[in-house]
Parts: sequence; structure tokens; C-alpha cells
Amino acid sequence: MQNLDQILTEAQAAFAAIDNPAELEQAKARYLGKSGALTELLKQLGKMPADERREAGARINQVKDSIEAALNERREALRELQLQAQLAKEALDVTLPGRGKHTGGLHPVNLTLHRIEELFRSVGFAVAEGPEIETDFYNFTALNTPEDHPARSMHDTFYVEGGDLLRTHTSPIQVRYMMTHQPPIKVIAPGRVYRVDSDATHSPMFHQVEGLWIDEHVSFADLKGVIADFLRRFFEQDNLKVRFRPSFFPFTEPSAEIDMGCVFCGGAGCRVCSHTGWLEVGGCGMVHPNVLKHVNIDSQKYQGFAFGMGPDRLTMLRYGVNDLRLFYENDLRFLKQFN
Ligand code: PHE
Repeated sequence: MQNLDQILTEAQAAFAAIDNPAELEQAKARYLGKSGALTELLKQLGKMPADERREAGARINQVKDSIEAALNERREALRELQLQAQLAKEALDVTLPGRGKHTGGLHPVNLTLHRIEELFRSVGFAVAEGPEIETDFYNFTALNTPEDHPARSMHDTFYVEGGDLLRTHTSPIQVRYMMTHQPPIKVIAPGRVYRVDSDATHSPMFHQVEGLWIDEHVSFADLKGVIADFLRRFFEQDNLKVRFRPSFFPFTEPSAEIDMGCVFCGGAGCRVCSHTGWLEVGGCGMVHPNVLKHVNIDSQKYQGFAFGMGPDRLTMLRYGVNDLRLFYENDLRFLKQFN
């Protein structure tokens, strides 16, 4: 019985020294378990005289309660310690500065393409697309450019295995469209095109938007009106000058180059327009009857115009970009300026 106080102090000291739950449970067994110190004492009660037995039993139970209390207290403390440790580990410093948000944006050429589509849709044109790998027929022959035609040399063509080619213009889209639609036809054809060419103003891959309007009475006057109206709206300059210069394309007759007044110098002459006051932005003309024949449209009844423009060039002019290659190098410092 003299040992009781000693056992209690020992147990309290032992529990206090432990800092992990598994060890604490082992220590518990040493005092309260089947062969623990207190249990041993309880077993000896039977050998005691009855009058002493009750008092001793009560004392032992008292100590047992105290040990259990100390144990529970330590359990609680350890649980709290563990919780604090975990909270410390998972802590977030909400005062740290953020990482910054980088919003993406559309590529400047795509901005132009969307703008062109929007402007032409607003005056009744549909938008058509087609394959970038084309057959010779759609890219040349159907466009009145048979194999031995000298105009083929105007296009430095990339050929792919098997004789097909990367389309050199988006005109084949119009051929496909005319084969599947009846006049009136009013459509634009935007897309990527390819030619063997590369310098500050030429890229082997570039864009075109071509347009086509076929009906019974579509005239060259309509062509001039649609083009001039488009350019004025595109560049937001109501007084923009537009002129048509005689030219040649196998698929149009008559044909013309489209020039507009230089948007940089207002026509006075500068480096961008080579001091002419004019910028060339595309080609156009009245669709050649041979082209209509190829797609089974009655050229006695129907006529119309076609035009082709370079969205890359229009983008350079609209945003004042002086090197076409900037569009295809994907330097974020450049692209971000268009967000
Ligand atoms: N397809 C011509 C080219 O790429 C452009 C063009 C289209 C010219 C329609 C006239 C009419 O060279």
C-alpha cells in the first residue's frame, strides 16, 4: 500500500514525458493493464484481513481513477498538439501577393478575319470553308488555268505526294461552293493558303479572304461598291480613297487590282506606300464564263464578280505592323498587345 503514491507519481511523470499516442497506450498497459502495477496490487487484496481489505480497495481505486484522469488529460493534450501541428503545416499565408492573371487573347490575324466576316455577313454574304490540301482541278483547272497556262507561274506551288497540292488561294472554295449551290450566290471564303515565298512581306503560309457574288445582274459597279464600302468600314475611314487598276487573272475578265489610299500618310506619300500614296490590297474581276461552265452555271443567264484580299496585309495596315513574320513567330510580347 505504501507503493500507491509512488505508483501514481511515477505514472503521472511517465505520461507527461510521452509525446506520441501509441507510446501513451503502451504506458497505460504498464499501470492499468492485466499485468499492470495496480492490477497486481488488486490481486493481493484477497490475502488481506477483511477490515483492511475494504480500505485498501478504496485507496487502490482512488489511485486508479487518478491515473485514468492523468491518462485522459495527456491524451487530450496530445490530440491538441497533433491538431496544432497539422494546422501549422497546412497554413496558407493569405497575405502573400497573388501570382498574377494572364488572360489570353485572339491572334491579330484572327481578329481581322472575324472583323471581315462580320462586315460581309452584315451585307448578306455567307461564309464558306474548304480543304487546305487541294486537287489540281479545284485550285487551277476549274479556275480556267489548265496545265500549260502561263498564269500558273504566278503561284509558286507546294505539291504533296500523289500530285495534290497545298491550295495557293482560297478560290477553290468558291469552285466547290458553286458546284453545290445555285445562284444567287453570295459568299466569302476565308482561309490559310500556301506559296513558296518568304521575306518581310511574304510568308509561305498566309491568309486570304475571297468573295463571290453571282446573280442575274451583278455588275462591275456592284463590285466597286462592295469593295469600297468594305474597306471604308474596315479601316473606319469614310473618305478612304479606293481605285481599280486593270490587271489579269485567268478566272476573271475584266480583272483589276484593288488599291486604297495609304492609311499612314493619307495619300501624301511615305515609306509604307513607296511614296505613291496608294496601297495594293487585292485583286478582283468579273467571273470568267469558262469558270461558270466548269461548275455548270449558265453563263448566258448569270454573271458576277470575285475578289481576293490578304487579311495579313490588312492586319499590318490596321495596326501599323511592319514585318509580316511577327505574326507567325508567336512572341508573347508582340501578341499581348492585341488582347
Ligand atoms: N485568287 C487570286 C489570287 O490569289 C485573287 C483573286 C480572287 C483575284 C478573285 C481575282 C478574283 O491571286
